[in-house]
Amino acid sequence: MGKKRGFLITFEGIEGCGKSTAVRSIHQYLGNLGRTALLTREPGGTWLGESIREILLNPPDTEDIDLTEEAFLFCASRAAHTRKVIKPALKGGYDIISDRYLDSTFVYQGVAGGLENDELDYLNRIATYGLMPDLTILLDLPVDEGLSRRRGAGAMNRIDKKAITYHSKVRERFLELADMQSDRIKVVDSSGSREMTLKRVKAHVDRLIQQVSDRKKKK
Ligand SMILES: Nc1ncnc2c1ncn2[C@@H]1O[C@H](COP(=O)(O)OP(=O)(O)O)[C@@H](O)[C@H]1O
Ligand SMILES: [Mg+2]
Repeated sequence: MGKKRGFLITFEGIEGCGKSTAVRSIHQYLGNLGRTALLTREPGGTWLGESIREILLNPPDTEDIDLTEEAFLFCASRAAHTRKVIKPALKGGYDIISDRYLDSTFVYQGVAGGLENDELDYLNRIATYGLMPDLTILLDLPVDEGLSRRRGAGAMNRIDKKAITYHSKVRERFLELADMQSDRIKVVDSSGSREMTLKRVKAHVDRLIQQVSDRKKKK
């Protein structure tokens, strides 16, 4: 039996929408289905990525990172992540579950306004080596709900402290992107219970697995 390529499934959405919770559950779910899945995150996933993550999330008060520099830092992290983790793992038959990937750059850097959409697309194409997710789950809930969930978790960082209007713009842009790429990006309402959210996410993952096995049968 030839080795099959794994799936790349990414999770996106505003702070507190439930990404980190969902990736852990889906990681476990795929394991229960007898698949081997790898859990990873952006920025991060490699030595370079985790170093960049620390710089981006907790810069010293005396330093400023401008929008161009920020976009390149995220993309540098993504390039290393794609080359060193995602591509080899997919090739080895692992599924990859990533907490954020290219859409976060398009959305956050786009909202910040430093670069144009086509520039962000171009940077992302370079950073991903053209590798697109098989499925992207956009977890969606009202901004105030997400922020209050995060505060409950005591996880405040630079991004959480930005204004609610900023997070609302981020939410809108994620939804617009999902609308434009509806084949890949599935919007899941995560305002309900963990169980309800997980059930909806699982349905999309099941559908992906089913689609691929149907396609194989046809060959
Ligand atoms: N469906 C849900 N209902 C209620 N609380 C949730 C739900 N999903 C996640 N949480 C909680 O909300 C907080 C933020 O979730 P998290 O997964 O860390 O979000 P993100 O990684 O998207 O910022 C955590 O305390 C988590 O336990
Ligand atoms: Mg998280």
